[in-house]
Amino acid sequence: MRVAVFGAGYVGLVTGACLADLGHDVVVRDILEERIDALRRGEVPIHEQGLAELLERNRERLRFTTDVGEAIDGAEVVFVAVGTPPTASGDADLTAVWTVVDELPKVEHRVVVAMKSTVPVGTGDAVRHRLDERGLENVGYVSNPEFTAEGTAVHDFQHPDRIVVGAFDPADAEVIERLHAGIEAPVITCDVNSAEMIKLAANAFLVTRISFINEIANVCEATGADVVKVAEGIGLDHRLGPHFLRAGIGYGGSCFPKDSLALKQLAANSGYSFQLLNAVIEVNELQKRRVVGKLERHLGSIRGKKIALLGLAFKPGTDDMREAPSLVLAARLQAEGAEISAWDPIANGRAHLDGVAIAGSALEALEGADGAVIVTEWPELGEVDWAEAGSRMRQRVLVDGRNMLDPEELRAHGFEYEGIGRAAE
Ligand SMILES: NC(=O)c1ccc[n+]([C@@H]2O[C@H](COP(=O)([O-])OP(=O)(O)OC[C@H]3O[C@@H](n4cnc5c(N)ncnc54)[C@H](O)[C@@H]3O)[C@@H](O)[C@H]2O)c1
Repeated sequence: MRVAVFGAGYVGLVTGACLADLGHDVVVRDILEERIDALRRGEVPIHEQGLAELLERNRERLRFTTDVGEAIDGAEVVFVAVGTPPTASGDADLTAVWTVVDELPKVEHRVVVAMKSTVPVGTGDAVRHRLDERGLENVGYVSNPEFTAEGTAVHDFQHPDRIVVGAFDPADAEVIERLHAGIEAPVITCDVNSAEMIKLAANAFLVTRISFINEIANVCEATGADVVKVAEGIGLDHRLGPHFLRAGIGYGGSCFPKDSLALKQLAANSGYSFQLLNAVIEVNELQKRRVVGKLERHLGSIRGKKIALLGLAFKPGTDDMREAPSLVLAARLQAEGAEISAWDPIANGRAHLDGVAIAGSALEALEGADGAVIVTEWPELGEVDWAEAGSRMRQRVLVDGRNMLDPEELRAHGFEYEGIGRAAE
């Protein structure tokens, strides 16, 4: 099939590359000329495992353009994969989505617009209304929310748990099903509102699990239990499952914070206070800040102390720093008067952090540090020679914000080690 993808970001590029790999003829359109030029030269503007190879392998079925007409020409499906960041009120900002809808030209043949961007419930209804107002009856509309996770997005797209298609017209849903032929997954077809809610509710549930285990971790600290064992013990219950039960310094990223806030506001705008979600969000905010208290417990005041932040991306496997806990942590530590060094194998800290010394390696970041915080569980940090690291630090204080290291081993190297929800020394 001929497919257009609007948005050459994390979702749009993975979608375009994976659909081309299924044999479809894909044109990806973005408004950023430099991004499109780079893609045409064969450069990949984001870090996502397997994406570069997939783009390279499918070169002859993939084109990149800034031109709407070129993207739409002959397309049977138009994916919308533009950003929907939060506004000042916490609602999803649909400016980019509306721009795409209003840019769509009149077409002679049937075209199905498939919304991959995460949008509030009711967006599809509003878009349908706008399309009808513009006389675009030939343009169908489906909600086809995206569940891929950064770092494993290519694999997730090719092996999804499910494909959700909310449609006004069953024939449009069938087009999307046909497009995914070759991918083994259950297809959930439903109304557009429900498809939109499935995405928001899934993310809300995931962050609820994260905040839940983080609160259990905090109670573990207060009572002397070890959350790593606790999570293992509860995760083996088949009714609960092991996923998203890893205590840490809180969730971040381009989706969880904004989507949970958007659902909270969507409910509030409809007159309902989503109390559970409100608490989940607040727990997450507090969780990031608890690290400062942990450092102070070992160092006293951190004014003038040097703290190394290890890992800056919101999670391993991506260069994405949108809403990363490292940003909040750096700002909080700076506000307390700490001097900060930082390292990440991929994320560009310089572009996001003012007044932070960005190091070329974890050991370099640890040089002369009074304390260190593991912010992102990059596998590289498991390979650091911690004996050597300790000898380079002024004080051997380590807060393992992701519980990735062995406390006993670190203590054997003379570290004062603190994890999250693990028994203190
Ligand atoms: N990042 C993820 O892993 C993920 C997962 C699931 C869902 N989502 C949702 O998918 C959407 C896109 O997320 P993302 O992370 O890919 O965003 P992104 O910021 O990486 O990419 C969005 C792209 O859209 C482009 N754009 C803006 N206006 C445009 C227009 N009129 N025409 C064409 N392109 C335009 C931007 O220039 C940008 O390159 C969001 O709604 C997000 O919530 C993201």
